[in-house]
Amino acid sequence: MKQDMILILDLGSEENARLAREIRAMGVYTEIHPHDITASELAALPNVKGIILNGGVNRVVDGVEIDASDAVYDSGFPVIAYDHQGAPALPDSGDVRENLIRSFVFDTCKAEANWNMKNFIEDQVELIRRQVGDKKVLLALSGGVDSSVVAALLLKAIGNQLVSVHVNHGLLRKGEPEEVVRVFREELNANLVYVDAIDRFLDKLKDVADPEEKRKIIGAEFIRVFEEEARKLEGIEFLGQGTIYPDIIESGTKTVKAVKSHHNVGGLPEDLQFELVEPLKMLFKDEVRACGLELGLPASMVYRQPFPGPGLGVRCLGAITRDRLEAVRESDAILREEFAKNGLEGKVWQYFTAIPDVKSVGVRDNKRAFEWCVIIRAVNTIDAMTASIEPIPYELLGHITERITNEVPGVNRVLYDLTPKPTGTIEWE
Ligand code: XMP
Repeated sequence: MKQDMILILDLGSEENARLAREIRAMGVYTEIHPHDITASELAALPNVKGIILNGGVNRVVDGVEIDASDAVYDSGFPVIAYDHQGAPALPDSGDVRENLIRSFVFDTCKAEANWNMKNFIEDQVELIRRQVGDKKVLLALSGGVDSSVVAALLLKAIGNQLVSVHVNHGLLRKGEPEEVVRVFREELNANLVYVDAIDRFLDKLKDVADPEEKRKIIGAEFIRVFEEEARKLEGIEFLGQGTIYPDIIESGTKTVKAVKSHHNVGGLPEDLQFELVEPLKMLFKDEVRACGLELGLPASMVYRQPFPGPGLGVRCLGAITRDRLEAVRESDAILREEFAKNGLEGKVWQYFTAIPDVKSVGVRDNKRAFEWCVIIRAVNTIDAMTASIEPIPYELLGHITERITNEVPGVNRVLYDLTPKPTGTIEWE
């Protein structure tokens, strides 16, 4: 293994991830582990240089103050007790903290700043090869950031022992399935199974208007299609997963209850339970992107804006019809193209169109036109829990409106959603 590691033990802090990121920003790899790590678990971790006991508001569990196990104090590694709440609340306390940690990491532990993507990739390639041997790995490649990066990493490690399956459910954005095929099959030479399941999904969704019902149908059908493909393949023993560190951290720790369950694997039948390969599980999102770039993926894929799993299915509001689905896909493509052209791509966190199940009267070619309308949404957010409206130049909105009403068949009106979250959610369904 290439990189030194500083271990952060969770003694009830709510700032474990932030501390881990702070130290990684100094170029030193970190992992967060539970306070009661055992001697053998500790011994299994490579290149540990020191341990930070990260205390905080959740340190008292069931009335008892938790502490690290004797294994930690007896390990011989430098140990420091740290508590964000206990640090001096001076205006420059950020620097004080940072200096304290920096000096522990570099002076006390003598850690080297050797955490970088090249080393990470080299280490993971070796670990993946060791885990998988000459067996095959199956991966659901959606084209999202995490699945694309994990696919590229697995490809580098095991080449055609990786079988990627891309399910086109008809709810992807314009050009996405084609880009997945182009990048992975043509450029990276991947063994990619492309499944056209458009009719299947749209038939299942016919006349279903309730958003949660739509989500359930899309999720369940996805698993069914993936399972069918898996059964056609021989000799698969592993399942690749684009799990990343926040997924794991949000699954809860011994001191903090789960924010959300880590459900990525869910749904495959018993006889298809594969061993998981999750090489990104220790990376934060920005590190996943850096890893993707280092592996040669295009920036458009690595910096892709968030896109919900049910895709355009929750942006074609109410019961999905093919004409409105095409209208939302085309209008979204125009919006994205104009945002890119006008330098808004990196400035706005999420932007898209939605199409309500509403027609309005308009005029086209001097005739009455009873057509659909399209809603533009563009928001900024840090954590998707709240979101604000990004001011978009009025002229640009006018230009986009003109393009959508001229170029998208069946759309004669464009609306702009000015609602922050709350009270709106980011998506309309
Ligand atoms: P809301 O609409 O809840 O969205 O404000 C917050 C963020 O989550 C995304 N989103 C989803 N992502 N499956 C997903 O994978 C879903 O069903 C889903 N619904 C919303 C949304 O795009 C936004 O980034």
